[in-house]
Amino acid sequence: MALVTKKLRGTEDVLPAESYRWQFLEEIMREQARVYGFSEIRTPVFENTQLFKRSVGETTDVVQKEMYTFDTKGGESVTLRPEGTAGAARALLEHGVYNDGLPVKASYFVSCYRYEKPQAGRLREFHQFGLEVYGTSKPVADAELICAAASIFERLGIDDLSLEINSIGCPECRKKYHAALKEYFASHEAELCDTCKGRLERNPMRILDCKSKICSGIAKDAPVILDYLCEECEEHFKGVKACLDSAGMKYTVNPRIVRGLDYYTKTVFEFVSGSIGSQSTVCGGGRYDGLIEELGGQPLPSLGFALGMERLLLLLDSKGIEIPKPEACALYVAALGESAEAKAFTLVKDLRDASLHAQYDIVGRGLKAQMKYANKIGALYSLVIGDNEIEENKANLKNMTTGEQVEVTLGEDFVSQFTAIYLDGKTGSPV
Ligand code: HAM
Repeated sequence: MALVTKKLRGTEDVLPAESYRWQFLEEIMREQARVYGFSEIRTPVFENTQLFKRSVGETTDVVQKEMYTFDTKGGESVTLRPEGTAGAARALLEHGVYNDGLPVKASYFVSCYRYEKPQAGRLREFHQFGLEVYGTSKPVADAELICAAASIFERLGIDDLSLEINSIGCPECRKKYHAALKEYFASHEAELCDTCKGRLERNPMRILDCKSKICSGIAKDAPVILDYLCEECEEHFKGVKACLDSAGMKYTVNPRIVRGLDYYTKTVFEFVSGSIGSQSTVCGGGRYDGLIEELGGQPLPSLGFALGMERLLLLLDSKGIEIPKPEACALYVAALGESAEAKAFTLVKDLRDASLHAQYDIVGRGLKAQMKYANKIGALYSLVIGDNEIEENKANLKNMTTGEQVEVTLGEDFVSQFTAIYLDGKTGSPV
């Protein structure tokens, strides 16, 4: 029979045999979020379109070309979130969380949607882990956030991501910078793509991250923002670098990083890999001191980053870093005959009640097929019970690795007998 449909282009399925990889990463991220003082926020997958236009910016690629936007039956324009920052800021503002004491620190796992051309490391549905800090303008907060991201890579054994930082200033220093960019790009206007021609007047900085080859070629020689920073932004950037230095963080200043979203101010940063192809930015973020006010709140200096889960997995694969497999089934109980099947059911339930991973046959297979299945799922021990075993209330417990067997009784103390043998086996001395 032909499948009704297949997954859409740019989307991925995570199958049961692979999900442990995600869970392992998520576990480390949750743990690092906890020690850095972040609590998780969960927001809707779709929001009013206006939220992303106002925050990400009308002239960005994301808003102009990539959003999944549709009208609801009620006639409202909604958008599947292209990123996590806007929704988190909206929710915290809406619920007055910023009035409850600062800083507020929020972490999240989100699925994101961007209608981009799919390629390795670039999907239309992808997943991010992010951290956001609200209510501080101190450079140490920028450094702390960068350290939090780095701590995740460190725990995963990734030691060759390069950290690139820049400052893209504030609206004050941008005035002079925009004028310089306009002058530069105006001399190339005829060669720019149509979108960038429109950006020339409205937001020339966005030409710097246009994905078109011609525009990015021209952008290579454009003036850089670092030459236009105002005194305050200059001081702030110096402060961030000093804090990173004192934390022993290695970085390079890359004056070409502008990030693709409009809300950024001052510090921006990226963790870039040399081993996953052209979609090399695994993690990106920065300060967005004007965003909360833009969304209708009080001015609230803030900052954050997001890390792409799929790109991180690609990176781990490319480096041959193995993610530990989850614990296999501790015991498979194979049964032959009706009373043995009933016994298998209760034995396994007792084991599970004691938090042990145990399985038995629930599809009606013969004994041979049951043992084949036990092997397939990598069960560490097996127990075969039939009429004799039920009658004698005893059975042989087999270590599936060594083949050794020991007799156990099937009464009330079965779980404690098995647990002792299992734990003993785990410390390296099989039965
Ligand atoms: P972003 O740079 O657009 O920033 O995305 C962050 C990360 O998400 C990227 O570094 C990349 O790993 C991953 N990513 C982005 N697009 C795709 C895609 N099409 N396919 C696969 N992975 C992708 C943001 O989204 C900001 N909200 C980050 C932030 C948080 N800034 C402040 N707070």
